[in-house]
Amino acid sequence: MKKVLHISSECYPAAKAGGMGDVVGALPLYLPAAGAKSSVIIPKYANKWFKGKTFKAVAKGSFAMGPYQIDYKIQTLKKNTLGYDLYCVDLPGLFDRDSIYLDVDGHGYKDEPQRNIAFQTAVVDWLAKGKTSFDILNCHDHMTGLIPFMVKYATAYQSLSSTPTVLTIHNGMYKGEFDWKIANYLPPYSSQHDGILDWDHKINSLATAIKCAWKVNTVSPNYMKEIMRDAGPMTHLYHMEEHKCLGILNGVDTKLWDPSTDSFLEHKLQDHVWVKFKQQNKTALLKQFGLKSRRPLVGFIGRLTDQKGADLLAEALDQKLSSNANLSMIILGTGDVSIEARLQELAKKYPKSVATYIAYDEGLARSIYAGCDYLIMPSRFEPCGLNQLFAMRYGTIPVVSDVGGLVDTVPDISIKGNGIVFGHSNIYAIQHALERAIALYKEKNTFKSLRSKLVKLDYSWSKSAETYAKLYQSLINSKV
Ligand code: GLC
Repeated sequence: MKKVLHISSECYPAAKAGGMGDVVGALPLYLPAAGAKSSVIIPKYANKWFKGKTFKAVAKGSFAMGPYQIDYKIQTLKKNTLGYDLYCVDLPGLFDRDSIYLDVDGHGYKDEPQRNIAFQTAVVDWLAKGKTSFDILNCHDHMTGLIPFMVKYATAYQSLSSTPTVLTIHNGMYKGEFDWKIANYLPPYSSQHDGILDWDHKINSLATAIKCAWKVNTVSPNYMKEIMRDAGPMTHLYHMEEHKCLGILNGVDTKLWDPSTDSFLEHKLQDHVWVKFKQQNKTALLKQFGLKSRRPLVGFIGRLTDQKGADLLAEALDQKLSSNANLSMIILGTGDVSIEARLQELAKKYPKSVATYIAYDEGLARSIYAGCDYLIMPSRFEPCGLNQLFAMRYGTIPVVSDVGGLVDTVPDISIKGNGIVFGHSNIYAIQHALERAIALYKEKNTFKSLRSKLVKLDYSWSKSAETYAKLYQSLINSKV
């Protein structure tokens, strides 16, 4: 069986900041059935998950990074119940922090480029020793985007140059750019390749990966179409590399996301009786947050950022509720301080209609998927989106903007689809979508039959894992 190494800064349950963590933690479980054994390598953080585990050393090494000598250790779990091999890179002083990306004030770490270079060099340095080998290296987002360059052009790592690399783009907005001043932190390479690292006079990790990886995939087909149309200053680059680009839709780990066994839920789904399951969970949520009943309950889960349209949602909701719209809303997430404050203010203004919970809380998220009638995602862009898939698994109707992977997974009910879709995420479109949700809720039979339809849809990883496995095989075949 071919062997794939997923190289990432996140992997659920060890370290997760967003959907990429879910994907890297789930895809390896589904790949073996499609013929690809998967392992994952991530940095060793000092968060709760890592602190509660014991590790054994697999390898160690050191390399120069500019003026610094970096010592690293590759470790694995002493007792692994994950279902795939998880390697972690111990880099003291760089990754032994609680948070993955943000300092205590919520700002990105200032030494982000150094951390990312050190992690990537350590991975490549370890692989080049050749004791553990892989047929494919699958890099995830810009944090691992320099690896396809390192294996191709770094003088010391030429033994890896024939190993195919794949870049999976979860979010093309983040590029991992840094100043040429620290180019000497990279492992030595011939300066004739400087142009490959460069985009707009900076070293750009994402652009470098797009140029060097053997294949580039986004996490939905529609998001790939969108960035081909407009990726800002990088559109031209995507066009040049179009021949090796494709979109593969994310899936759901259906074992982890199963309303009949979900250990976070007090009221689980029993004997497929959805009406009871939804009612019990909704009642519990309304009670917990002191919200009005006998009206649709809408949830929002996610980062409170512009990308997710959380700012637009706040305005749309304020306007709707000031004209007495008949709905209740629960918002769960963290993010921009100003959006957090605005949403908290709404909860104060409409205490019986809006509950805002500023936190990352897996348990509450599960209760929201289980107890809400609708889940709204007013994203300005959305490479795939997983929440709409989780929602449908838990019998909750998605209300989404028509972008990225939301288009691939939620066709509008007017075209026999499975959710409410609104064009261009703006305040009026959101308000109109909420009105449609309120109206649909009143049509009890239509509402119920839509729910029965949703819960039968198959968005599991199995199909997409096969597409990844085929992609890996085609790269292996292209070598001979
Ligand atoms: C990022 C994207 C999201 C995607 C996830 C997993 O978080 O914003 O749309 O589903 O990565 O690929």
